[in-house]
Amino acid sequence: MTDGAADDEDIPNNIDTSTTTRLLFAPSEPPPKLNLTELRKQFNTHLETWESSQTWQHLKNALQKDVLGQSQPAIENVVCIGLGSPSGFVQGGWVDRRSVAMYQLAALTTIIDCVKQHHATSTSTPQDLAEMKIIAQDPVFNTLDIELLSSLGITAVDSPEGFNAVTDKTFLFAPGAERRHLRLMLPFNPVMVFGGPLEEGPSLAARGFNDDDDINEKDDGSKSMTHVLLFCTAEEAKPFVWEVMSARAPGQKADDPGAFYLVESNVLPADRSGYKTSLQKGETFESDFIGASLEDCQKWALEKQYQVNFIEDDIIVVVDARSAQDKTVLVSHYEPNNDLSPWVFAGFGALPREFDTWYNYRVKFSYARIFDAAFNYSSPQVVYPAFFGRKEDFTDEQGVFDVAAAERFSMEYNPEDYWVDSPKL
Ligand SMILES: C[S@@+](CC[C@H](N)C(=O)[O-])C[C@H]1O[C@@H](n2cnc3c(N)ncnc32)[C@H](O)[C@@H]1O
Repeated sequence: MTDGAADDEDIPNNIDTSTTTRLLFAPSEPPPKLNLTELRKQFNTHLETWESSQTWQHLKNALQKDVLGQSQPAIENVVCIGLGSPSGFVQGGWVDRRSVAMYQLAALTTIIDCVKQHHATSTSTPQDLAEMKIIAQDPVFNTLDIELLSSLGITAVDSPEGFNAVTDKTFLFAPGAERRHLRLMLPFNPVMVFGGPLEEGPSLAARGFNDDDDINEKDDGSKSMTHVLLFCTAEEAKPFVWEVMSARAPGQKADDPGAFYLVESNVLPADRSGYKTSLQKGETFESDFIGASLEDCQKWALEKQYQVNFIEDDIIVVVDARSAQDKTVLVSHYEPNNDLSPWVFAGFGALPREFDTWYNYRVKFSYARIFDAAFNYSSPQVVYPAFFGRKEDFTDEQGVFDVAAAERFSMEYNPEDYWVDSPKL
C-alpha cells in the first residue's frame, strides 16, 4: 500500500475500547507490516500530490509575496503542534487520519523549504539555517512517526516542550490544533502561524488540508463552518427544537447561519450536509436519541467529534423533557485531560477544578449558543472565573444557570480585588 488510504488488512486486530481520553492521547497503532522505507514512500507520494496541487501553488505565491516578502524578524525555529499520526490509527484503531497528517507534513516540509530559500537570499546566513530547530509535538506519534519526522529533519518532542519553544521568532505550524493549545501559544506572537482549528474561515492552509479529496476544492464560505451538536431526547420537546435552532444572538439577523447541527441519527454523517442547521416551525424530524440520557449524548458526541472536522469540540446542547415545560436546554461542556499547566485565578485557584469531566449548565434556550463562543473561542481569563469558579453561585434553586449574571461577572472580575496578602513590593 502506498497511498496512505485505509484498507482492511491495515486495521489492527486488537482494537482497544477503553476510556476515550486514554485512547485520544495514546500513540497511534501502525499497520503490522509497515516499516520506515514504506512509510517514506507513502510520504513521497503525498508530497508529489501536494506539490502539484493548486493549493500549494497559491500558498507558495502568497507566502513569497505577502508573508515572507514583508519585513519581519527572521524565523529562528519551527514548532509543529497536533499533526496527528502519519502512520497509524488513533483512538484505539477507530480513526484513520493518516493521509491528512501526511498532507500536512508534506505542506510543512514545503513551507520550511520556502522559508529557507527566502532566508538564504535575504538576511540569514547559512549558519542560521543550519541552526533552525524544527520540532513536532503530538502524543499520538508512534516510533515510526518519530523516525519519519527525523528523516525529514524534524525532532519529535514530548509535551510541553513544543508549547514552551514558541517565541516571537517561531513559525508555528498547527493545522487542526485544538483551541486550548492555540490559546496557550498565540500570546507569544509567533512570527508566522499556519493552521488553527480546521474549517474555520479562510485560514490559508486549512483548505486543502482537510481531506485528500479537498486538495483542489473551492470552498464557499457557507461550508467552512463548524457547529454544535444538538440532541432532542424527548418526543414532547420536538416542537420546541425549531425555536432553539432559530434563536439568534442580539444583533444577528434571522437569516444568519444557525449554530447547531440537529442530530437525528446515531450514525455520523460523512459530511456536514447530513445535518440540518435550521427547521421550519412545525417541521418534523427524526431523533434516534429519544429516551437517551445526557450521558448517552455526551458519550456519543465525544466519540464522534474527533472523526470529522465539522463538529465543534467538547460542547453539546440537549433538548429534553424539561425543555418542553420551561424552555430551558442543557448545555454540556467537556474539559478533557491535558498536560498543560492549569489556569490559576485569584480568588478561585486552579480552574477548572476537574478534568475529563462534563460541566452541565441548564439555561434559557436563547443562551445556548453563547457557550461555544465562551469555551472554544474566548480567553480563559474572561470565562473561567464565572463559568467554572462561580457556576454554583449563578445557578438558582431550579437549577437554571444565569448566563447574564455570569457574563456581568466576567466583565467585572478583577484579580486584584482578591488579594489576601499585600502584593510584595
Ligand atoms: C483535531 S486533531 C488534528 C489532527 C490533524 N492535524 C488533522 O488535521 O487531522 C488535534 C491533534 O492535537 C493532538 N494533541 C492533543 N494534545 C496535544 C498536545 N499536548 N500537544 C500536541 N498535540 C496534541 C491530538 O493528538 C491530535 O492529533
